[in-house]
Amino acid sequence: MKAKSSDYIQIFDTTLRDGEQTPGVSLTMEDKIEIARQLSKLGVDVIEAGSPMSSEGEKRVVKEIAKAGLEAEVCGLARATRSDIDAAIDCDVDVVHVFIPTSPVQMKYAVNMTPEQVLSATVDHVEYVKRHGLKCEFSPMDATRSELGFLKQVCQAAEKAKADMLNIPDTVGIMIPKTMSKLIEEVRKAVKVPISVHCHDDFGMAVANSLAAVEAGATQVHATINGLGERAGNASLEEVVMALHMIYKLKTGINSRLLYSTSRMVATLTGIFVQANKAIVGENAFAHESGIHTRGVTVKPLTFEPIKPESVGRTRKLVAGKLAGTRGIKAELQEIGIHPTEDQLKEIVRRVKELGDKGKMVTDADLLALTSAVMGEVIAEEKIVDLCDMAVVTGIKVIPTASVRLVLDGKEYIAAETGVGPVDAVLKAIQKLTSNLAKIRLNEYRLEAITGGSNAVAEVVIKVEDERGHIVSARAAREDIVMASVEAMINGINKCLIKNRKPGKKE
Ligand code: KIV
Ligand code: ZN
Repeated sequence: MKAKSSDYIQIFDTTLRDGEQTPGVSLTMEDKIEIARQLSKLGVDVIEAGSPMSSEGEKRVVKEIAKAGLEAEVCGLARATRSDIDAAIDCDVDVVHVFIPTSPVQMKYAVNMTPEQVLSATVDHVEYVKRHGLKCEFSPMDATRSELGFLKQVCQAAEKAKADMLNIPDTVGIMIPKTMSKLIEEVRKAVKVPISVHCHDDFGMAVANSLAAVEAGATQVHATINGLGERAGNASLEEVVMALHMIYKLKTGINSRLLYSTSRMVATLTGIFVQANKAIVGENAFAHESGIHTRGVTVKPLTFEPIKPESVGRTRKLVAGKLAGTRGIKAELQEIGIHPTEDQLKEIVRRVKELGDKGKMVTDADLLALTSAVMGEVIAEEKIVDLCDMAVVTGIKVIPTASVRLVLDGKEYIAAETGVGPVDAVLKAIQKLTSNLAKIRLNEYRLEAITGGSNAVAEVVIKVEDERGHIVSARAAREDIVMASVEAMINGINKCLIKNRKPGKKE
């Protein structure tokens, strides 16, 4: 844990817990470990890795993250029950985050407990965590709709039981900055333990409310990458951090240059894409269109850029297409914390140039997609399955048909299949050929056009599952959707096969 000065605000990241509660999001173990490593590199102080009591799979993931040797502390969420806390302790986490509702509506209808029962459960369970020698963060859930006197009583009880951090959740996002700072002031009058805040975005005020809490003395903020989370989400980490750094002149452990690559990684793996006009990480956040703006930023960036794009791992969109050669691309990637090998760099440059030659402006999103596709590819000497060639036929009165020639374990095979479209046909043909090596099922397929136009770079992310239930994700980025799909599929199959042939290989 970094040494803290009085102007340091801790960032507690809950992308892997509240963020994963975003409707429609389900991350594999592999995805969660990849995100946790990136969050630690980004510099968050605490990673809430999940809710270990929710399933055996979730418990395994939290355990893996806890033993990954990350710099960030790893936290597991637990209701105020022994079994939940035991599940978190079993994962060897550094911090257990214990929560219990304190608002009248949630005490009655969510847990059916009286205020007295809530009070005594608070004491029992904070003490239980502390007896195991772990840090305990305590949350009176729905604090902002709780009766103030009772809330203070619960907070004092948690403090007396030796909670290390008291987190005030605005569970249904009903605060405004003025009421939030007043509430934090009131809680601070009642306790001396450090205060944290956890805001939801139901009225679009999670970031503003988090900052108001900091103004009133909170020293930790809960946040998620891209503002993911239940319903309308949580406070967006990138917005909170940049406002703390630039407007409040406060410090965090975050290396802001990694914000954009982290945002892209989370968007790709969760399938929840960021709106173009979102602050900091949206595609248009550093794009300038009107004449007066483009002239202004060219002469003096400060005219229309309150944040330097490179400080958050971005480039100004006007110049993004003019990436010059290997050195320029290498520097661009290094600046945002990505270090490809020489061979990977060569391939990234080749693909960027290929796009440039076709007259396409290469944006920072394109560059990142190409880079993560190249870096995520199975390297040549490890490939069990490789593509020789393929052809697809589609049309109005034609059944979409694909033929594929693959090398499987050194021997060539050919297969043809039909499908509802060319992508379906070609993926079926690949699966038909590889079914002799392993039964691999396509679980999920996602396609995103990164930049506009019919020549957009398309990023395909797939999840495949083998017979033993192992799920791996793979991706590819190309201008040709069929090619991107084929590459992603072959990558996924190779990853599965390699994992099965090397049983010791970590998930
Ligand atoms: O929103 C909320 O109240 C939560 C708690 C578990 C802290 O996520
Ligand atoms: Zn929440």
